[in-house]
Amino acid sequence: MTGISGKRILLVIGGGIAAYKTLDLIRRLRERGASVRAVMTPAAKNFVTPLSVASLTGSKVFEDLFSLTDEAEMGHIELSRDADLLVVAPATADLLAKMAHGLADDLASTLLLATDKKILVAPAMNLRMWLAPATLRNVARLREDGVIFVGPDDGEMACGEYGPGRMSEPLTIAAAIATALSGETAIPLPPGLARPQGVLSGRRVVITSGPTHEPIDPVRFIANRSSGKQGHAIARAAAASGADVVLISGPVALPDPANVAAIHVETAREMLKAVEASLPADIFIAAAAVADWRVAEASPEKIKKDGKALPPLALVENPDILATVAKREALRPSLVIGFAAETENLLVHAKEKLLRKGCDMIIANDVGEGSGVMGGENNSVTLLTGGGMESWPNMSKDEVAGRLVTKLASMLDGGRG
Ligand code: CTP
Repeated sequence: MTGISGKRILLVIGGGIAAYKTLDLIRRLRERGASVRAVMTPAAKNFVTPLSVASLTGSKVFEDLFSLTDEAEMGHIELSRDADLLVVAPATADLLAKMAHGLADDLASTLLLATDKKILVAPAMNLRMWLAPATLRNVARLREDGVIFVGPDDGEMACGEYGPGRMSEPLTIAAAIATALSGETAIPLPPGLARPQGVLSGRRVVITSGPTHEPIDPVRFIANRSSGKQGHAIARAAAASGADVVLISGPVALPDPANVAAIHVETAREMLKAVEASLPADIFIAAAAVADWRVAEASPEKIKKDGKALPPLALVENPDILATVAKREALRPSLVIGFAAETENLLVHAKEKLLRKGCDMIIANDVGEGSGVMGGENNSVTLLTGGGMESWPNMSKDEVAGRLVTKLASMLDGGRG
């Protein structure tokens, strides 16, 4: 982590339970040769004390916008002028909202508004706050402004719920800081370009993508060949058409698309939980290749060869995410769209899935050997609805995504089918 040594980091500590992890972050940054100055919001002091922050940073903690002593020692503009990077950890929903709207009513928000340095934020909040339309809007706006996000991660939260909202681990944040300092972060799109007004403006779209991994033991899992390319392309296209997009992805080797709220999961059951926590939505698109089965009881220890019988792997069926969402009584999205990846009798199976799963459209694609669809760049799809079907020529997954977005927008606007 060469990017960090000798750099000056101005750390804004927000008021959240994750502030205790920020103490470790300070330690990690200093170990790597950075100097850290800390600013605490008034709420942060409910979670960690200025004294512990001061002893770890080895310097005074700044708290008050109107402190004459602070201004005499170092004016608040100087504080950010003097830094190579501003880091907000934990970045609460409130701090993100203030940043997105340019509010400056305390020292932390004033510094964040007054700086011309890069800002990296590590959000932490309750999952419903993270997935709230207002927060998604604020996050999208901040991304457009060039703010760098690390996390939040999924996991068990202090409030007892499971989902996205946990602050990333200090080592992950330190790595993101090193990358930001080395200047390797993506150049932000000019304001307005990333989130144009489009056919899905004001709509919320939830998309699953990629495979799921179902553990057999701590080192082995059941998986499939899905790359996530088609689902991620749809997320990009929907965001480019103005939608608020939540992308719930299994393990893939793709970066999170810009301007979408990305939630990372491993298993089918985690994916279902994340989808349900992301509702309500106008459109749900199940593009993930969800593993149909999981091992009834994954072993907590690595299964060893004992030279005798092969280990029996009893399988149980995973929940069907698409059917569960399509058959919901409350909060059923207006459009529920599934894929049918088939190797034979494509249209027969697809029609059967449309009816059995109760969705509004099935996008059938041939994933047979030689089709090149799984992992490839192109796709040939046939769209089936209750009203009929339409086949599209072979085209790139991005083109499929673009045409699909236009189609879904017109279905939402009244022209179903
Ligand atoms: N799907 C889902 N949850 C599952 C299985 C599938 O949400 N547990 C969704 C997929 O995202 C896709 C659609 O259902 O949109 C069809 O997936 P597919 O694997 O083709 O169908 P299956 O239901 O698994 O049926 P089969 O494996 O018998 O073809």
